[in-house]
Amino acid sequence: MKPVPAVTLWWVLLLVPRLGATRTGSPEEASFYYGTFPLGFSWGVGSSAFQTEGAWDQDGKGASIWDAFTHSGKGKVLGDETADVACDGYYKVQEDILLLRELHVNHYRFSLSWPRILPTGIRADQVNQEGIKFYSDFIDALLGNNVTPIVTLYHWDLPQLLQVEYGGWQNISMTKYFTDYANLCFEVFGDRVKHWVTFSDPRKMAEKGYETGHHAPGLKLHGTGLYKAAHHIIKAHAQAWHSYHHTWRSKQQGLVGISLNCDWGEPVDISNPKDVEAAERYLQFCLGWFANPIYAGDYPQVMKEHIGRKSAEQGLDVSRLPEFSLQEKSYIKGTSDFLGLGHFTTRYITAKNYPSRQGPSYQNDRDLIELVDPNWPDLGSTWLYSVPWGFRRLLNFAQTQYGDPPMYVMENGASQKLHSTHLCDKWRIQYLKGYINEMLKAIKDGAHIKGYTSWSLLDKFEWENGYSDRYGFYYVKFNNRNKPRYPKASVHYYKKIITANGFPNPREVKSWYFKALETCSINNQMLAAEPLLSHMQMATEIVVPTVCTLCVLIAALLLMLLLQRQR
Ligand SMILES: *[C@@H]1O[C@H](CO)[C@@H](O)[C@H](O)[C@H]1NC(C)=O
Repeated sequence: MKPVPAVTLWWVLLLVPRLGATRTGSPEEASFYYGTFPLGFSWGVGSSAFQTEGAWDQDGKGASIWDAFTHSGKGKVLGDETADVACDGYYKVQEDILLLRELHVNHYRFSLSWPRILPTGIRADQVNQEGIKFYSDFIDALLGNNVTPIVTLYHWDLPQLLQVEYGGWQNISMTKYFTDYANLCFEVFGDRVKHWVTFSDPRKMAEKGYETGHHAPGLKLHGTGLYKAAHHIIKAHAQAWHSYHHTWRSKQQGLVGISLNCDWGEPVDISNPKDVEAAERYLQFCLGWFANPIYAGDYPQVMKEHIGRKSAEQGLDVSRLPEFSLQEKSYIKGTSDFLGLGHFTTRYITAKNYPSRQGPSYQNDRDLIELVDPNWPDLGSTWLYSVPWGFRRLLNFAQTQYGDPPMYVMENGASQKLHSTHLCDKWRIQYLKGYINEMLKAIKDGAHIKGYTSWSLLDKFEWENGYSDRYGFYYVKFNNRNKPRYPKASVHYYKKIITANGFPNPREVKSWYFKALETCSINNQMLAAEPLLSHMQMATEIVVPTVCTLCVLIAALLLMLLLQRQR
């Protein structure tokens, strides 16, 4: 997941006096809403292939850009970690399905690894039947356990060969290769999979992969690369949707959508029109960038204006933001059966004019600054503050902006930082409770939210942060070869929310909290005893063979002595 541009201490300090007067505690915070979700509301957890599977070169899988990126030398990922093994999820299907059952989830959202299915990325080259079999068995196992699969086609792990030979998402030919891949997936899994997500958080992928270079493929094409990549991703999404619509929908009766991540942007000073505009701009550059073409047929007006004006000032003939032709606009408009949303935190936004001569960049194009309130509880990741009320506002915003679409929350969750072995994750429980409650309020406001995916099932590889950010309901002991999973307290709490389909009454909700914390202290002891257990395991793996070998040697020696004597 994510770092947003660093919020400097300077701005944090600046914000305190400005906020102090008007904004101590929002009205939403004060009133917890007891009630339940609509019947049939789908509860789930999520993950992605590259972050969990491991087995990076097994059973015919090709390399992805993330394999190449993590293998390409020092300094790309914290601690130079790779995801070669990650959670070893490829070999732990049965074990992880038991975890899903323990959580009582209705759905599991996961992604397919494109190069596991198509090693070169291109369907005409080679289809890896072992890859197809792996996912096919996995889908069967989920359904056999009453867990609905929500399947993401692309969660950032582009086949490396497509990067090397075509320049990845810089190249329009990706739309064809992606559509071929999507069609294959519809063909082989679509009899059982009814919820498809084409792209997961494409904004982050474009921004970090093609603007800052913090993610694979590590390109720094400031102010141009990300807009081009996004342009091709939007077209690829639309093509995949049309393919499904024309070829598969009548037989398979499924849904195809996209999942877009965005934090909420709140104006620092709601009485200042410049701040209000800047906050709107923040949301349009974040969510509208992808959602507006898909729901309204074109990029948000404010993006076209800002990037167009800055491009002109920078001496360019055409805007750095590509244009859709009229034909493309109508082709792209309406290509989502639901809106998937990912959401983690909130920012205060204030306007700031960046001079065009500083050169092209996404940052400068937006003309704004992101701030945080130091009173917000901060969680593991440096950028992640718990601000539940922002979630409701984002959901309401999406509802009104995009014509009241059916929505699925595809990612929402909180991380815990480095070396913390705590299974008693009180802070995650607070986050879950607050955010899910604000989602419930958004539903009462009228938003059509069909399901919620908490992020994520397991602690896993967190991109440039390696294994330092732990988002899981289950703690994974990565330094143990077996990658054992341990339930955190939040497992217990989330299960209660799911079983009750919401928050029935204060007494019960309070009792969940205490019960959750009871279970985790026992599990903590298990985890603490684990080094001892792994020593015992070492004993069986090293000591036993050594002793046996010695026995054989001694026996041989005795035999030799015996034979010598007999001579
Ligand atoms: C796209 O890929 C083709 C084939 O490799 C290449 O000829 C073309 O120059 C590429 N276009 C861009 C914009 O990189």
